[in-house]
Amino acid sequence: MKINKVSKLSGTITVPADKSITHRSIMLSSIAEGKSYVNNYLQSDDCLMTMNAFKQMGVNIEQKDNSLIIDGVGINGLKNPVKEIYAGNSGTTTRLLSGVLAGQRFSSTITGDESLSKRPMKRVIAPLSLMGADIKAKDNNFLPMTINANGNLKAIDYVSPVASAQVKSCILFAGLYADGTTTVTEPIKSRDHSEKMFKTFGADISVDGLKVIVNHCDKLYAQEVTVPCDISSAAFFIVAGLIVPNSNIKILNVNINKTRDGVLTVLKSMGADIVLDNVRTVSGEDVADIEIRSSKLNSTSFGKEIVPSLIDEIPIIVLAATQAEGQTVISGAKELKVKESDRIHSVASQLNKMGADIQETDDGFIINGPAKLKGATVDSFDDHRIAMMLSIAGLIAEGETEVLKSDCVKISFANFYEVLKQICK
Ligand code: S3P
Repeated sequence: MKINKVSKLSGTITVPADKSITHRSIMLSSIAEGKSYVNNYLQSDDCLMTMNAFKQMGVNIEQKDNSLIIDGVGINGLKNPVKEIYAGNSGTTTRLLSGVLAGQRFSSTITGDESLSKRPMKRVIAPLSLMGADIKAKDNNFLPMTINANGNLKAIDYVSPVASAQVKSCILFAGLYADGTTTVTEPIKSRDHSEKMFKTFGADISVDGLKVIVNHCDKLYAQEVTVPCDISSAAFFIVAGLIVPNSNIKILNVNINKTRDGVLTVLKSMGADIVLDNVRTVSGEDVADIEIRSSKLNSTSFGKEIVPSLIDEIPIIVLAATQAEGQTVISGAKELKVKESDRIHSVASQLNKMGADIQETDDGFIINGPAKLKGATVDSFDDHRIAMMLSIAGLIAEGETEVLKSDCVKISFANFYEVLKQICK
């Protein structure tokens, strides 16, 4: 994709539905009893992987307009997938699904694309093995991963070394199938969509600080879920609105769940003009319309306490920091190294090609701003969030920016470039 500098951004847009919430609603609806409706679901490659996995295990999933109609088979109604389950690029599919698969009475194997096959799975293999699952993975850590399940999971009390919603949710899914009460305690709270949605579907789940407690479950109940728009997708346009001069944009219907809104906190602390309107609750999640005006930004610093609530937004926050006055230090974000690409390296190396002053550290970045960006040929590393961040950088760079492998935006935001064109003036 080739991008040129623009003079302003204006208009009202919507961004696609939340990826995390879509994955969870497909999974829970599939193992609930009765017909569930998932409205405004995310139509993206990652969520398609989750849908295909459950179809392969005998769940009837129909697509009608913007909704999914899912005929739940009940908690013990999944069928042997027979063939390997292909998870594509999706870490969420793999890690959450492994918790469901560990609770079955059949064996199954998950495979993935080149990037996913390099991402660590020990983080789910370890707790599931403690629960009694027999799991074989390449080097005990990588896909392909075979889960030899026999319907005998033990409840555990797990203290997770990482603040990861994927790990937490994996254990919670397995906990539905385990005998007794399973608990997961995180070092720092990660996104809590699973906790909210488990409760809605009728699971016996509670939260006590950093500990989540789930009981064995015999029955989940079909629901109608309306998925709000994804703050991780909105974040690209929030930052675009701030750094392109003379801009004023509004993004409708965005999920502002407290465990996901770190990007708003950090940008506001940098002086961003961001206003939340029409705050409301939809299907148990907080939602707002977000209005953004171009702003003069100052540097900031943040670390591990806030990182889980903005982990996917760090690439675009780094771009904002390149335009801020002063030095921004981001630490406690080592997890970025095991995302769809090594995001510490991909963000710093590509923005530096455009003239930014960013130093990679072991767990984050040191960014000196403001930097005048210039157009360059940059690489997405086949990582959707890197492709989108670099495209936004192109809007303020002198000359032309060419983003290589920009096609990967379809992992989470298939019409990203159309939405962007809508507001470029
Ligand atoms: C997700 C959790 C996060 C996030 C990912 C989606 C989820 O991953 O980066 O995009 O839906 O649970 P980790 O749990 O690995 O931090």
